[in-house]
Amino acid sequence: MVEERVISELFKFTCLCNNLYLINNKFVTFLFTQLDMKKNVLRFIGTVACIFTFLSIAFAQNNDEAIEAKIDQLVKKMTLEEKIAMLHANSIFNTGGVARLGIPGLSMDDGPLGIREELSPGGGWSPANLTTDSATFFPNGSAIAATWNPEMAKRYGVAIGEEARARNKDILLAPAFNIARTPLCGRTYEYYSEDPFLNAQLAVAAVKGIQSQHVAACVKHFVLNNQETERGRVNVEVSERALREIYLPAFKASIKEGNAWTIMSAYNKVRGNYCSENPYLLNTILKGEWGFTGIVISDWGGTHSTVEAANNGLDVEMGSRPPYENYYFAKPLLDSVRAGKVTEKTIDEKVRRIIWVIYKTALSSNRPKGLLNTSAHSKTVYDIASESIVLLKNEKHLLPLHTAGIKSIAVIGDNATRTNHLGGFGAGVKARYEITPLQGLQNALRNKVQITFAQGYRARKVNPGNRNVDLNLPDSSLIQEAVNTAKNSDVAILFIGGNRDYESEGRDRKDLSLPFGEQSLVDAVTAVNANTIVVIIGGAPYDLNKIKKNNHTIVWSWYNGSEGGNALANVLTGKVNPSGKLPFTFPVALDESPAHYLNTFPGDSLTATYKEGILVGYRWYDTKNIAPLYPFGYGLSYTTFKYSSLHTTRKSYKPGETITVTLNVRNAGKMDGKETVQLYIGKRGSVVERADKELKAFKKVMVQAGKEVSVSLSIPVNSLAYYDEKRSQWVVEPGDYQLMAGTSSKDIEVTASINMIGGK
Ligand code: BGC
Repeated sequence: MVEERVISELFKFTCLCNNLYLINNKFVTFLFTQLDMKKNVLRFIGTVACIFTFLSIAFAQNNDEAIEAKIDQLVKKMTLEEKIAMLHANSIFNTGGVARLGIPGLSMDDGPLGIREELSPGGGWSPANLTTDSATFFPNGSAIAATWNPEMAKRYGVAIGEEARARNKDILLAPAFNIARTPLCGRTYEYYSEDPFLNAQLAVAAVKGIQSQHVAACVKHFVLNNQETERGRVNVEVSERALREIYLPAFKASIKEGNAWTIMSAYNKVRGNYCSENPYLLNTILKGEWGFTGIVISDWGGTHSTVEAANNGLDVEMGSRPPYENYYFAKPLLDSVRAGKVTEKTIDEKVRRIIWVIYKTALSSNRPKGLLNTSAHSKTVYDIASESIVLLKNEKHLLPLHTAGIKSIAVIGDNATRTNHLGGFGAGVKARYEITPLQGLQNALRNKVQITFAQGYRARKVNPGNRNVDLNLPDSSLIQEAVNTAKNSDVAILFIGGNRDYESEGRDRKDLSLPFGEQSLVDAVTAVNANTIVVIIGGAPYDLNKIKKNNHTIVWSWYNGSEGGNALANVLTGKVNPSGKLPFTFPVALDESPAHYLNTFPGDSLTATYKEGILVGYRWYDTKNIAPLYPFGYGLSYTTFKYSSLHTTRKSYKPGETITVTLNVRNAGKMDGKETVQLYIGKRGSVVERADKELKAFKKVMVQAGKEVSVSLSIPVNSLAYYDEKRSQWVVEPGDYQLMAGTSSKDIEVTASINMIGGK
């Protein structure tokens, strides 16, 4: 029997090496049944398997070695000028190649919401106005995070990777997943969440999905780009512990587990050095500790030196302002090599990395052709959007809409008809189509209910040159029109919130208030229609205090892509049971959120000192006993879930082991639904400051009405470690840990405790 197992394992390994796992598994089964397990036959198979395994490994190694050898030969043949041409942009999204040696340049594109349109060959950001470059608009980062479903991030990655491939891009400038440190950050909607573990799970899945299409993911922005105010000049001071525990984990996971081939350095400085020339971040941590073998690309115009950047880890300088031959990594770099300030060895190392990425992408064998705007991509968008929408309040059970008894619906608010694919600088995409909320409702309720639209408010454009213009003034005539429409309808659905101009790269919001006089609109409509539903569309927290207090039915939605309107309508009408959970805390007041409470946003004299340390997001609110408006992880369903029987397989664990946790989740309502089980762990009586609880595992499960499922979660003990600054190492403390499972970070349903032995 042992022999059988050995042979079987050998075969599995062999097959893995050859990507023939399934075929060979069948082969093994076939052999076992046919050959009656005779010892000498087994020996024969064993020998064949050993040879096969050896050859496979040798082949894989040879393949890598062959590529390395090819890279060696190419680099040897290149002139210094040719090498330098590969290290900088020669147009907004391209770098140079070496045609005489068959080395193509790299073609890149944004990300993360879709493959942006082609730019005019004349230079600058003006569009080429082609008819062939529209693309699928994918849900924004915080929407993907709200699904709490890595499978959705993977599907996003595969689909957007296919589109990047179809548009002939080698590098997709996505995903973006800086931590949501302040609710005001203009790019919160592009980023994922306030939690490093949730970010890491999603980033790894997205990267793997993108790269499955032989397109390099470019994870961004490395690192601590948590505000847009003065992003090009601000210096971030952060403790080593917060850096390691909060801001780096998702980047580390995307490199070490996701195997991302490229990374974008952030605009800001960290501890005095720009991220694009930061030796600690790029050389010590990224390329040293994490063994990153891909390329570091600067953010656009984010390079500030030649010698420092070249020697401190940057590989490629990108930007949008010609003349490109004057870039730091163009003629000045050539001169610096000639002057002996940068060695040719350093240049060769960068070129080698670039060619390595080219072999993974443009020159890879079996490169798929890619797919653009397919119905499968629309379905992916629809599924992500459907799982991302968060039901915040449903006190009167007005939702799902009981359409049989409804004759008329007033659809009110600019956001009901606004599209969100364009805007926000880098993240804009020329969508082939985008279903608005109004269109979604019309699709869902056609011929059944009379729908009347009223604009309700005017969404004024932000004037970046004058941030003092009051965008919040209500428009009384639009409000009056909305009130009249609402009065004459059975149900009023308000679509308010932000938009892709109001939330944008390059600037932070001034405060959390709902813009454009939306609160006055909500008040006026709510006063005349008792069946008012408030739907907020946005990518970051807003002030919903008054709405939470006065309104009984509240739904949160996002910039949810080409199919966003259909998904939203299907949630409202009950075809989809909402299962989204908030990826960040909504504070009651801005000054209760950590960076603002400690007055460290946007920084003083261009230095932002992250005084809150590790207490970011719910870690802060929980530990300081500050009640949030809506907690991290919160989201209701049309059914209810009951948790029970949380237990671990053992009571004591040691570093290096894995904790297996199981619990039961029962759907106590009448509708099938998905629930995200969140497992938090807290260390009691620690020698260092600890957050009350930290997310360590989660799983989204479908539970049929009236049924119960058993959910099992695995937590590596080492993930309970804190970073010890004095010893510069991760430490798993001995003692008691509390396990808390719940429907949000605040709604803990079941608990257990374990004891750690043998830690440091
Ligand atoms: C953004 C990047 C983006 C790049 C190219 C920069 O301003 O920070 O995220 O990829 O522009 O559009």
